[in-house]
Amino acid sequence: MADSTKTNSSKKNQNYISASESRNISRYNRRITDALEKQRNRKHVPESEYLTTMKDPNNTVEYDDLHTYFFTDIGTVRAVDGVSFEVPQGKTVGIVGESGCGKSITSLSLMQLVQRPQGQIVQGQIRFNLGDKAYDIAKMPANMMEKIRGNHVSMIFQEPMTSLNPVFRIGEQINEVITLHNPEKSEAEVKDHTLHMLDLVGIANPDGIYKRYPHELSGGMRQRVMIAMAIACDPKLVIADEPTTALDVTIQAQILDLFRNLKEKINSSIMLITHDLGVIAEMADTVVVMYAGRIVEKGTADDIFLHPAHPYTVGLMASKPVVNRKVDRLYSIPGSVPSPIHMPDYCYFRDRCDKRFSLCNGKYPAEFQISETHKVSCYQYMDVASGA
Ligand SMILES: Nc1ncnc2c1ncn2[C@@H]1O[C@H](COP(=O)(O)OP(=O)(O)OP(=O)(O)O)[C@@H](O)[C@H]1O
Ligand code: SF4
Ligand SMILES: [Mg+2]
Repeated sequence: MADSTKTNSSKKNQNYISASESRNISRYNRRITDALEKQRNRKHVPESEYLTTMKDPNNTVEYDDLHTYFFTDIGTVRAVDGVSFEVPQGKTVGIVGESGCGKSITSLSLMQLVQRPQGQIVQGQIRFNLGDKAYDIAKMPANMMEKIRGNHVSMIFQEPMTSLNPVFRIGEQINEVITLHNPEKSEAEVKDHTLHMLDLVGIANPDGIYKRYPHELSGGMRQRVMIAMAIACDPKLVIADEPTTALDVTIQAQILDLFRNLKEKINSSIMLITHDLGVIAEMADTVVVMYAGRIVEKGTADDIFLHPAHPYTVGLMASKPVVNRKVDRLYSIPGSVPSPIHMPDYCYFRDRCDKRFSLCNGKYPAEFQISETHKVSCYQYMDVASGA
């Protein structure tokens, strides 16, 4: 896809945009987003257009070269720039990386909740396994996606108060979710189901909480209610985006315990997004490390924590506080992330990397397989991967 920001490349100062360039960018954005919106908002689209086949039927989700861009007035932000990974059935995949690296946009793309019309999936596939068939969410029309969202995939956000409706009682809000997805259930059955969900997430007096309003609950209780809502319809995938960040440490620990227990009780796969490497280490089966909109390393939790390979992952590990290890100051990776509008055509980490060598001046490194489960995008591993 052409890039509106290229009109700007002749300027020495990349942040400078003249009035005519700005008009060109707006025109370009409108042309692209109008076309994509028209495609997305079509009604009566034949299923065959977004029907697909999983590469491995044991996966719930397969991201394949996903590109999600924001068409802004100052240029195209490549928020997700070619991301591929799998979420196996019943497993937890942790996504880590520093702020702004594209973790939330990767998951919001799967929910088709990226802020439109500026935010658009422009390339790639998100294959979602429904059991009897699989859909490519990147191609699905918006009206069909409503049937998938909440029913087969649900999301837990960082701040539960913003996701709960302050004017309805807790019970009513969970009932609504259950009724929407199980219209055949009677009122009494729906209430029983809601009470069971409240019980499952460790709420001691479900009958009492059923009648309360969100503002009457503590942050931890509200997050439990959100989790109850998210798993009420037994989704194939639960996305948890920083589910414990807004909570204090003891409540964080309780919510993590809850997640661990729930993993055994529900069949859902979990996509867990967090800055907190400790949470990932405890919860995740596999880990994806993102940097500037791309995946730089992925593998099992052991691969990533015991044998981090990419210099960025090594830096992340070194910046994690460890109990009983005395350090004068925590390590922080020097330098900053390149602008998402002016991404270089070489390794995005090169300007911060203390391991760079001649090859790193070439194009962005491919993904090298360094063990059966472990892949890394870094030239240092080219020889390992080729067996040299
Ligand atoms: N509505 C938007 N308009 C323009 N750019 C956006 C928008 N939303 C996100 N972005 C950009 O997309 C990139 C990825 O954002 P994202 O929210 O996925 O980051 P993140 O990894 O979830 O960060 P954090 O850890 O802070 O939540 C960032 O560069 C961000 O500035
Ligand atoms: S490819 Fe080169 S610059 Fe990039 S992370 Fe690896 S060693 Fe560093
Ligand atoms: Mg985020």
